[in-house]
Amino acid sequence: MPKKLDLTDNLEQYIIDNSEPLTKVQKEIIEYNITLGDQKRLQISVSQAQLLQSLIKASGVKKILEIGSFTGFSALSMALALPSDGSLISLDKNLEFSKKAKVFYEKANENKIIQIIKPALESLNELKNSKTKFDLVFIDADKENYLNYYNICIDLIDKGRLIIIDNVLWHGEVADGSKNDKFTSIIRDFNKYLKQDSRVSKNIIPVGDGFTICIKK
Ligand SMILES: C[S@@+](CC[C@H](N)C(=O)[O-])C[C@H]1O[C@@H](n2cnc3c(N)ncnc32)[C@H](O)[C@@H]1O
Repeated sequence: MPKKLDLTDNLEQYIIDNSEPLTKVQKEIIEYNITLGDQKRLQISVSQAQLLQSLIKASGVKKILEIGSFTGFSALSMALALPSDGSLISLDKNLEFSKKAKVFYEKANENKIIQIIKPALESLNELKNSKTKFDLVFIDADKENYLNYYNICIDLIDKGRLIIIDNVLWHGEVADGSKNDKFTSIIRDFNKYLKQDSRVSKNIIPVGDGFTICIKK
């Protein structure tokens, strides 16, 4: 078994520097998010964005649903990896974040992104009723609704398609038995639910705050 890597900031920067380069507007979103102080932590990491892009390109994904867009870094990153006839529906209830995200999408000339601004559960029920299907769903919004989102989204994808969920390692606290606060417990229960869910095969990846990649059986 290979020795475990200590993922220092230096090594993380090396990984970023030697992976697919970011576009000008992706960099601008990151810079803007830094100005927001603590809220910058809402954004996925660069390595997570690059992994999403690789998965999209490798699996021929054309239709993406994102739950939780913030200022648009993950949506823009995924949209950039789509073919020209691809599309991405991005759900967020926050008008200010969504307006800012739109500025970045326009700056990047990225017209594959459709924003729906209202509570995600409402949008998801509408998408389910209209029998819309997606090739990839990315869940990154309020943790209290993760299980609801997942259980609706499983009906929005076909066999072989993907649901990817962020923050499943919750800063490592899910594996620390002394941590039993509300959010650690929610994520732990969610991971436990996914483990026993025979509708998908799954893989937790320690990138950013932890991705679970689910493939529908
Ligand atoms: C972690 S951030 C998303 C980060 C984004 N994926 C990125 O990488 O930049 C979570 C987002 O979910 C949104 N959100 C929270 N609760 C929501 C809800 N019930 N319905 C829709 N959006 C929600 C918040 O407004 C916030 O923008």
